[in-house]
Amino acid sequence: MGLDEVKVKPHERLGRWLAEDMDGVNDMIRKRMVSEHAPRIPEVTAHLVEAGGKRLRPMLTLAAARLCGYAGPYHVHLAATVEFIHTATLLHDDVVDESQRRRGRPTANLLWDNKSSVLVGDYLFARAFQLMVEPGNLRVLNILSNAAAVIAEGEVLQLTAAQDLRTDESIYLQVIRGKTAALFSAATEAGAVVAGATEEQVIALRDYGDALGIAFQIADDLLDYGGNSTEIGKNTGDDFRERKLTLPVIKAVAAADAAERAFWERVIEKGDQREGDLDAAIAILKRRGALDAARADAFAWTAKAKAAMSRLPDHPLREMLEDLADYVVSRLN
Ligand code: IPE
Ligand code: IPE
Ligand code: MG
Ligand code: MG
Repeated sequence: MGLDEVKVKPHERLGRWLAEDMDGVNDMIRKRMVSEHAPRIPEVTAHLVEAGGKRLRPMLTLAAARLCGYAGPYHVHLAATVEFIHTATLLHDDVVDESQRRRGRPTANLLWDNKSSVLVGDYLFARAFQLMVEPGNLRVLNILSNAAAVIAEGEVLQLTAAQDLRTDESIYLQVIRGKTAALFSAATEAGAVVAGATEEQVIALRDYGDALGIAFQIADDLLDYGGNSTEIGKNTGDDFRERKLTLPVIKAVAAADAAERAFWERVIEKGDQREGDLDAAIAILKRRGALDAARADAFAWTAKAKAAMSRLPDHPLREMLEDLADYVVSRLN
């Protein structure tokens, strides 16, 4: 491997390998996000879609299909479906989280309003369902429609678990498996199924997506307490302000002494947050080793993702997917 290749990030390497397929996906996204009757729809979708995004999930579908030897056209529909579902959930998520930045831009709810974000999100969901039907594969339809339900379930579970200091690691895992990992695993599984892969390969790719999604969300939650806002394109501190029990906080609450416990009760349960509280929270997380412990958990999920990939035949895409697993948590180093 040359020096140049070393510096290229795994998702960029995947993007290059899959460039033709990705062009197809981006074309399909652009064609299907328009609406003849409601100009607000292309305004909002273009704002979000043209901002980029890493396109991780559609690449997972394309890579899984190609890795399993697929030569047909429908992996492109499925990859576009997955990105539509993702984009719809982002529109809704930023309303729910009252977020102000996404993909380095102001959120749609800030630029337009909550109503537009909710309704355009609904429109994108509907477009996703139209797309997922087109391959005419009932099993794939089942995987993707199921993922849409599980994502919503995860978001609702998170809503009821927020502000509640009894939320433990098993509830947290349930939340992130639903809201995030379900789409990663559906993305890889659908790609394998459309390719007519063996059952072992389908399961290996689904397990990979699940573990990758979990590692990815733990990393995202860590970045909310210590990431660089410009690099991640979102504001940090959102989870604290929203009183969410993410993994670092759950670990710190479990280890809290009386004074720390009182702090968490005030800021998370009562929602009485004052100037300097976010910094105080970060100091406690550090003191209790909660950030390091959560980081170690993310790496353990990365290892699981890579172990699942080892059940697949040797292939350059397999290697890139293994590297991708390292990459999603590498931002934590
Ligand atoms: C953001 O996902 C939502 C989470 C699950 C944390 P990404 O970080 O993949 O978002 P984009 O598509 O690259 O903006
Ligand atoms: C995003 O969850 C998951 C979904 C979009 C369903 P978060 O709320 O944790 O992600 P960000 O930080 O807004 O991207
Ligand atoms: Mg959010
Ligand atoms: Mg959220």
